[in-house]
Amino acid sequence: MIPAVARITGTGRGLPARIFTNDDFASIGIETSDEWIMERTGIHERRIGTETETTCWMAAAASRTAMARAGVAAGEIDAIILSTASPDRLLPATAVDLQAELGATRAAAFDISAACSGWLYGLTVAEGMIASGAIETALVVGSEKMSSIVDWKDRSTCVLFGDGAGAVVLQRNKAGERAGILSTFMRSDGKLADLLYRPHGGAAHPMTAEIVADRSHLVRMAGREVFKHAVREMSEAADRALDAAKMSSTDIDLLIPHQANVRIIEATAKHAGIPMDKVYVNVERFGNTSSASIPIALDEVIEKKIVGPGQTVLMVAFGAGFTWASAVVRL
Ligand code: ACO
Repeated sequence: MIPAVARITGTGRGLPARIFTNDDFASIGIETSDEWIMERTGIHERRIGTETETTCWMAAAASRTAMARAGVAAGEIDAIILSTASPDRLLPATAVDLQAELGATRAAAFDISAACSGWLYGLTVAEGMIASGAIETALVVGSEKMSSIVDWKDRSTCVLFGDGAGAVVLQRNKAGERAGILSTFMRSDGKLADLLYRPHGGAAHPMTAEIVADRSHLVRMAGREVFKHAVREMSEAADRALDAAKMSSTDIDLLIPHQANVRIIEATAKHAGIPMDKVYVNVERFGNTSSASIPIALDEVIEKKIVGPGQTVLMVAFGAGFTWASAVVRL
């Protein structure tokens, strides 16, 4: 059996209170229907943050729960790794706002930008920092206020996303402990960046009135192309993490895929040979919360006791970049 260097000792989630259903789009002049959205995506509703429910606020709510469950105080955290595609400010990182908010006085803090795969990238980086001896305890957070970066006039994208955060505490294993990260996998293909991106508003094309007027600082997506790649790359990611853990799909107690779309999830599960009753789906309640989707789902399945100590979870993600990633974790 592969020994694990680090294990997840606490999980948490932070969600805005406001529920925005598919029927609510009519109230903002978006021509769509619950039937269309449900049939194509499986999404029924999502959370939308208020002005004060920022990326940092959601991250802090998720982190406090994860730390309480792990029995870890803010001063014990060595590193805060926050994955986000929707940072509160472009400078500095939202992770340092979280560091200040939590009072994690001896923590390094930085953001990871790998879109929907970002939390699994963060988990991999944190595990590596523990393995190298640089740190003992990490807080790995995915937090997204997607409602602030989607184009609310584009019905083909604004119906897909939602706001939320998920967090875990990752700690060095003591000798003989069997739980922990058994394998990880990460890949990217930047040639495909323009299939899902925010064209302008960054350093190459700084904000102007024209950019704001043509809305090119907001998310644009070629939905069908993204769909095709998501299925292919998430399937590859599932295979690679299982290979690296020297496991087959029958060894997995639960698949937690990135929650973008039920049809992508079903195709990934089918490829991996995992029946849908062993796949966790909550996209109908939260929409696509980008890098927050897997840690939110992980927190729910542990809280609901769908999986528990000694059981093995496969997590698989795909997102803008493109990036894709996976991990096998024993709880
Ligand atoms: N309501 C009603 N009609 C709509 C809506 C809407 N919200 N959005 C688009 N349409 C219309 C289009 O205008 C088009 O109409 P037309 O035929 O008259 O021109 C029609 O529906 C079909 O549009 P398509 O874009 O071809 O629809 P498609 O079947 O591809 O479904 C979807 C679109 C749901 C976005 C799909 O492509 C998809 O799921 N892609 C994956 C995207 C994704 O999940 N991205 C998330 C980020 S990446 C990740 O997290 C994995």
